[in-house]
Amino acid sequence: MKSIQWSNDCLCLLNQTALPGSLEYIDCRDHRRVGEAIKRLEVRGAPAIGAAAAFGLVLGARELAANGENLRMLLPQVAEELLNTRPTAVNLSWALKRMMAVLDSVSSDADIVVALEQEAVAIMEEDRQVNAAISRHGLELFEQPIHAILTHCNAGALATVEYGTALGVIRQAWANGKIGRVFADETRPLLQGARLTVWELMQDGIPVTLITDNMAGWVMKKQMVQAVIVGADRIALNGDVANKIGTYSVAVLAQKHNIPFYVAAPLSTFDFSLQTGDSIPIEERDSCEVAAFGGQVVAPAGVEVFNPAFDVTPHELITAIITEHGVLRPPFCTAIASIQKEKGGK
Ligand code: MRU
Repeated sequence: MKSIQWSNDCLCLLNQTALPGSLEYIDCRDHRRVGEAIKRLEVRGAPAIGAAAAFGLVLGARELAANGENLRMLLPQVAEELLNTRPTAVNLSWALKRMMAVLDSVSSDADIVVALEQEAVAIMEEDRQVNAAISRHGLELFEQPIHAILTHCNAGALATVEYGTALGVIRQAWANGKIGRVFADETRPLLQGARLTVWELMQDGIPVTLITDNMAGWVMKKQMVQAVIVGADRIALNGDVANKIGTYSVAVLAQKHNIPFYVAAPLSTFDFSLQTGDSIPIEERDSCEVAAFGGQVVAPAGVEVFNPAFDVTPHELITAIITEHGVLRPPFCTAIASIQKEKGGK
C-alpha cells in the first residue's frame, strides 16, 4: 500500500476518500488533477500533500514544455495554483519553494523538467528516510512499556510517503514490545481516524480500539491510555502545533490526566517564519462536512456551521516533539532555534 507513486509521466495516488471501502487509484497526468486531489483530500496529510504538489509541478512543467511555453515565466503560476489548494500544512509551500529553487540552479531551459523530476523524487525519497528516523527516535519515549497510546486523525503511511510520523513511532514501539494497543479517535468530521488509522493498523496486525472523539476524556480518566501521540501540519518557532481539529481538546485532556502528549513531525513541518501558532492559517471547509454524516444529512437545512479543519495546540501542553533530528523537549523555542541553526533553516 503506497499513498503516492511516480512513474515517468504519471502520479498515481491512492484515493483516500474511498478507504476503507475500496482500494482505488487515481492517475494524475496533469497538475490540475493533482491540485484537485489535494483539495478533495484524495491525497491528504502534510508530508503527502507536499510530495504530491512537487510532482504536480513536474507535470505542470511538462505541459508547458510540450506546448513550447516559457517555463521560467509560467511555472510560478502553476506553483501558485498548487499552493492555493490547502492553506494550513506548511509542507506544501516547503516542497513548492524547494522545487522552484531548482530553476535557479539549472542554466539550460532544456534541463529544467529533468531537474524538477529529480528534485521531486528526492523529496519523496527523503520523506521515507525522515519517517524511519522519526520512528527510531520515538523509541526513546518508551523506556517503560505502556499498555496503550491514543492517537488522533491519521499521521500514518497514508499521510506521508511511507511509514508515517506518529504512526511510524507507534509501529516501531509496537514492534519493540513497548506499546500493547492503540486507541484511535474517529476524528470528526471526515473520520480520518476511523477510516484510515484503524485500516492501517489492522493491516499491520497492531491491536487498535476505535473510539468517538468525545470518549477520549473518559478513556484517560479510566487510565486506559498512558500516552498520546499525534502528527502536525505546521509548527511555529515557540513549539505551538497546528494539527487536525480536535487535537487541542485531546491535549487539554491529557494535561488534566497527567498523560504525556507527544507530537511527531519532520523538519519540513516547521515554519521558521512564525514566532507563535497565532498566525497559522486555519483552513475552513464546507458546511456539509459537519451537517451531514456518511452522505446522510443530520442537521436542519440552513443551519449555520463552523468547520475549521485544524486547531493549534499551545506549546505548554506538549511534552515532546519527535523529529528526524531527535526528540525536542521544552523550552521548545530554544530546541527549535538550535535545529534551525544546525540545519541553516529559514
Ligand atoms: O485534513 P488532513 O487529513 O490532511 O489532516 C491531516 C492531519 O492533521 C495530520 O495529522 C497531519 O497532516 C500530519 S500527517 C503526518
